Amino acid sequence: MTQTPQQHFESALREAGPDAAAAEALAAHGLDLRLIPTPASADDVPAEPAISSEFPEVVALADWLRSVSRGFLDAEPDEKSLPSRYGAFVARRNIGVFDPTTAQPQLPVGTFGSFVTQLTVPGQSAVEAFAITAVTVAATHRRRGIARQMMEGELRAAVAAGLSVAVLTVSESSIYQRYGFAPSAPAATWVIDRKRAGFSAPATAGRLDYLSREQFRELAPVLHDRVRLASPGEIVPTGMHWDRFAGTLPGVKNTEALRFVQYRDSDGVVQGLVVYSLRENDADYTKTALDVSLLMTATDEAYAAMWRYLFEHDLIGDITLSLRSVDEPVRWMLADQRAAVVTVVDHQYVRILNIVTALQSRTYGSAGRVVLEVTDPLGIDAGRFAIDVDDFGQAVVTRDATAEADATLTTVELSALFIGGTSAATLVSAGRVTVRDAGATGPDSVTGRIDAMFRTPTEPRLSFWY
Ligand SMILES: CC(C)(COP(=O)(O)OP(=O)(O)OC[C@H]1O[C@@H](n2cnc3c(N)ncnc32)[C@H](O)[C@@H]1OP(=O)(O)O)[C@@H](O)C(=O)NCCC(=O)NCCS
Repeated sequence: MTQTPQQHFESALREAGPDAAAAEALAAHGLDLRLIPTPASADDVPAEPAISSEFPEVVALADWLRSVSRGFLDAEPDEKSLPSRYGAFVARRNIGVFDPTTAQPQLPVGTFGSFVTQLTVPGQSAVEAFAITAVTVAATHRRRGIARQMMEGELRAAVAAGLSVAVLTVSESSIYQRYGFAPSAPAATWVIDRKRAGFSAPATAGRLDYLSREQFRELAPVLHDRVRLASPGEIVPTGMHWDRFAGTLPGVKNTEALRFVQYRDSDGVVQGLVVYSLRENDADYTKTALDVSLLMTATDEAYAAMWRYLFEHDLIGDITLSLRSVDEPVRWMLADQRAAVVTVVDHQYVRILNIVTALQSRTYGSAGRVVLEVTDPLGIDAGRFAIDVDDFGQAVVTRDATAEADATLTTVELSALFIGGTSAATLVSAGRVTVRDAGATGPDSVTGRIDAMFRTPTEPRLSFWY
């Protein structure tokens, strides 16, 4: 049976073993770098896995998850729920750093998880990406280079497997630019004062219905697959992410408040889904808070219908949505735009690992040529690259040391430009990109040409954490 590109990358990563250079550097400090065994396919998941010597790989994964919880300041995970999460790790590559001299040597002091996903890039297209998660180092072992060894080693493993891009979301903004990652898709939290807003939107012909969490769980991945290519920056959520939205992840508390609603168009096709919960305001029952954890729509009609549904709730004060676009059309559905308070943070981080493959995976907004001199803080991929875009927006990217460079930048700035949400003119003003015609503006300037090529009409976004 032929493998999909994603399956090819997954097996290459799982077969590769731990990175030799990282293992050697950690061994010099008495630490042991190991791959955590996880199932290669759903067929390898025992029907009822248990934390017992009968299933040593479940024991190892449970210990790894205990260390992840500890690293993220979470409580000790519920013992009963740990085995049920085993299936969520199918085809993943997870590593642990072990210190045999600790009081609990079975719990890794460093954890680093990854899975292969598809990153949406401009042009309704996607590229396979190395998604990084669960990066923790035990508080007893911090600031001595364990995270750096894990990151550098795992990025080398991703490159060796043939992946051209890595992605991650962050707990702290200050950690990842040193490894070449750029904040590439921001996340906006929208808090809208319902009564003040003066909402209006075009009429819609479909209908709304409540769903059970199980019905939502079934429909959500299908709808996301239809909409994800419209938003650069999106990746494919795993089953575990959908269980989190649906409240069907074992051991997750406070899911009783979740409500699920679908919008079907006049042909009966599901075009929108929303998940939300309500928080009563004891001091004023007309100011219950409505918190939306997911709003997904495939058409403008569904978008309008879902927002009307939220606004037509009675007894609601603020409507809050997080992980939204900075450029939500709802702004233009409000008579009083100041009823919406929008807070923006960095969210989806992207790091190019192979410049030619990554830049050729997207389309561009304008024909032309630009030559970029790129340096890489980890030395993974660097040099001078000519990007020639044809009238159809397709690029041919060639390594060309002889061409005169139009702009000089690092992997971080190139990765920020890559999915279209960052302006070259902004990066030049910030002193992060140097151009050969410094001070020039307008469409023929270097920044004008880069922005015409790279910028997208749709602001990149990502609708969940991973
Ligand atoms: C973030 C974390 C993984 C770092 O682990 P660590 O082993 O102490 O990191 P290292 O010693 O390898 O440090 C690597 C670099 O990151 C820097 N760094 C480490 N922790 C940092 C932090 N919290 N904020 C900013 N920079 C940090 C170090 O100064 C070092 O910089 P340098 O190599 O350029 O000199 C660890 O502090 C941790 O587990 N934190 C809690 C969980 C978390 O936030 N994980 C990140 C998930 S996105």
